[in-house]
Amino acid sequence: MRTKIAIIGAGPAGLMLAHLLQRDGIDAVVVESRNRDYIEGRVRAGVLEQTTVNLLERLGISGRMCREGLIHTGTNLAIDGELFRIDMEALTGGSTVMVYGQQEVMRDLFDDAAERGIKIIFEAEGVQLHEVDGSHPFVTWREHGAERRLDCDFIAGCDGFHGVSRPCIPETIRKTFERVYPFGWLGILAEVPPANHELIYANHERGFALASMRSATRSRYYIQCPLDEKLEDWPDERFWDEVSLRLGPATAAHVVRGPAFEKSIAPLRSFVTEPMRHGRLFLAGDAAHIVPPTGAKGLNLAVADVTFLAEALAAYYRSGSALGIDHYSDRALARVWKAERFSWWFTSITHRFPEMDGFARKMQVAELNYIRGSRAAQTMLAENYVGLPLQ
Ligand code: FAD
Ligand code: DHB
Repeated sequence: MRTKIAIIGAGPAGLMLAHLLQRDGIDAVVVESRNRDYIEGRVRAGVLEQTTVNLLERLGISGRMCREGLIHTGTNLAIDGELFRIDMEALTGGSTVMVYGQQEVMRDLFDDAAERGIKIIFEAEGVQLHEVDGSHPFVTWREHGAERRLDCDFIAGCDGFHGVSRPCIPETIRKTFERVYPFGWLGILAEVPPANHELIYANHERGFALASMRSATRSRYYIQCPLDEKLEDWPDERFWDEVSLRLGPATAAHVVRGPAFEKSIAPLRSFVTEPMRHGRLFLAGDAAHIVPPTGAKGLNLAVADVTFLAEALAAYYRSGSALGIDHYSDRALARVWKAERFSWWFTSITHRFPEMDGFARKMQVAELNYIRGSRAAQTMLAENYVGLPLQ
């Protein structure tokens, strides 16, 4: 088999890239190790930046999102139960975010890919990348026991944090920057109406809590927990008690309890690998970087990367110019680092750290109170939360 672009991974980065290339008439094949049900079943991101929404609209994949997604013009912070609102729309000159689950985005991308004949190979075993720094790269895998080979011009490594693409950049060239946080997020999904019509990011003496949602009838809640916490130690009632306590009495009065039909613990990490290109291999999304989920940036960053990459590849095939390709890593990283900073900062002012003493907590509370009273500080938060421009 031969194609122009071999895309490794059918997560948000890989599938979005496949769509962008298809619209530009550039032949691509997606090679994915799992099946569609598994990918659509993964409960992950919930908040789409304005730029991600705009891109889905431009691609003509926004019909269901516009009908079922929830536009949020503001978000809320809480200090020991006391809420204040950030009016994102007013502070950014009209930008908002869309609450629409990653699972729904994936379903729309897969449905549209099937209609447009985008080629996706599922359940590819033992995927390997070859000759990424030569002029004839190729990808191999096993499919139902048969060996397969895909020759291509370029490879897009969109295979997430645990994928095979990143390690193909030699260690002598690859630099990594990392922070592992000493806590995780315990998250639940429940078929109950949300406590509030907008999100609440809560800093509480006992630790962080987040009230989010998927629809008017489905809620998503998270609480910060120790990394060695066991799910079986968190029966639903204990979770509802703890999240209510951390959100504070005013919000707790509106928390509707119900059985959790999904419950999981996710570790928190900041991670960046540089460069994001080596020879004919490009990295995009979680394959190149991870942010702690506090700023809701992960999926959105993946989308920004592939927007830059698709532009660079389109210019290459249109005019033969390698300028965009050569600039891809620097351009993507410039935006990645800003999102890393925002996610790290937002985590640092909202979570309880093990070494935190009275002074450190007072500093957090003072910073949150400063944001509450300062239009400038709120603007900083708002413009990062809705998503920085794609420059
Ligand atoms: P992935 O989604 O990881 O996709 C990679 C794909 O590659 C997968 O389908 C995988 O099966 C495949 N793959 C892996 N290895 C191979 C291989 N060897 N060969 C072939 N295929 C392979 N982000 C936000 O923007 N907002 C949020 O609110 C948010 N909340 C989150 C909450 C949680 C609990 C978690 C865990 C994440 C959250 N994120 C959020 C992050 C977001 O989900 C990720 O950043 C996003 O999925 C990254 O997309 P990706 O395509 O780069 O990687
Ligand atoms: C959700 C996840 C996040 O990481 C976040 O910052 C906001 C919302 C969610 O899953 O709904």
